[in-house]
Amino acid sequence: MLSPLIVEPLLKWYASCARVLPWRENRDPYRIWISEIMLQQTRVEAVVAHYERFMAELPDVRALASVSEERLLKLWEGLGYYSRARNLKRAAAMILERYGGNFPEEAETLAELPGIGPYTAGAIASIAFEQPEPAVDGNVLRVFARLTADSEPVNSPRFRDRVAAELRRLYPKRRCGAFTQALMELGAMVCLPNGAPLCERCPLAEFCVGYRQNRAMDFPVRPTPKPRRVEQRTILLWCVGDRVGVRRRPPRGLLGGMWEFPGVSGACSVPDVMKEFAAYRIDGIVPCPSARHVFTHVEWQMTGFLLIARETPRELKMVNEEELTQIISLPTAFRSFAAFWKEHQRNVD
Ligand code: ADE
Repeated sequence: MLSPLIVEPLLKWYASCARVLPWRENRDPYRIWISEIMLQQTRVEAVVAHYERFMAELPDVRALASVSEERLLKLWEGLGYYSRARNLKRAAAMILERYGGNFPEEAETLAELPGIGPYTAGAIASIAFEQPEPAVDGNVLRVFARLTADSEPVNSPRFRDRVAAELRRLYPKRRCGAFTQALMELGAMVCLPNGAPLCERCPLAEFCVGYRQNRAMDFPVRPTPKPRRVEQRTILLWCVGDRVGVRRRPPRGLLGGMWEFPGVSGACSVPDVMKEFAAYRIDGIVPCPSARHVFTHVEWQMTGFLLIARETPRELKMVNEEELTQIISLPTAFRSFAAFWKEHQRNVD
């Protein structure tokens, strides 16, 4: 059981040690929502610059609801998990339509919006609207597991529900937003995920069972993850003059609907590629450096070829360097191939 005595020291610590972050400037639910979505699966340092750029261009629900998908994905470039961006736009349209542009204040109602699960709903409800709703993310689960020396697997829904129920009991009136953020901040800055936690700096050390038993590092307990599937892929930089070919991925699944350089499964050799494209006039084939990209459940090991061609397969859209950089949002997985193509362009100019 979590002691209610943690509340005051935690809030006091947060008041003096919280990082200054752009989404902490005010209580605008829109700003808090966008930050929480960006911060899922992405580190604070990587988010800050994206966040500022996004807010400057799309400062409110109305602007987000009317932005083009292309521009939205461009603003999201580098953050990954692009369905998050698409859900933002869908949710913004619903907030306009159902609630006249005003955010609902209840976590339960917020959680009906696309892309808003219990975590984000709790974060918005507590931080923007002072509701006693926990926002249980990995940081909070870890803090709780160590404080209570709880051995239940940290990713089990039962553990998450228990953490949420225990925290809900402790939420202090009119300081709900600070409590939510203090728990997250403690997890990010003191009760660290990788390596040893900084227990000597922790405002809750005296209440922490893990620390008192000198076993903080034994928590949280994680079941062994399933190994990631490894897929070999061959990427093709199909070049005609100063343009390169891109295409849209299928709408569902990995990188659904995103632009990509065309590719095929497996690690192809030069003869394989020549055979595959025998119907086209190809003037040259240049091997690209191989690359690797790790997604949540799969890892791509990529080889690639730059093909100097005279004509374009119908399914490709040909873009020049400016279009590739300014308009197309190419997932990070293809970044090294884009750089290789640009370098090649420079050498032939
Ligand atoms: N991680 C998730 N939400 C956060 C927030 N509001 N501030 C800092 N780190 C976070």
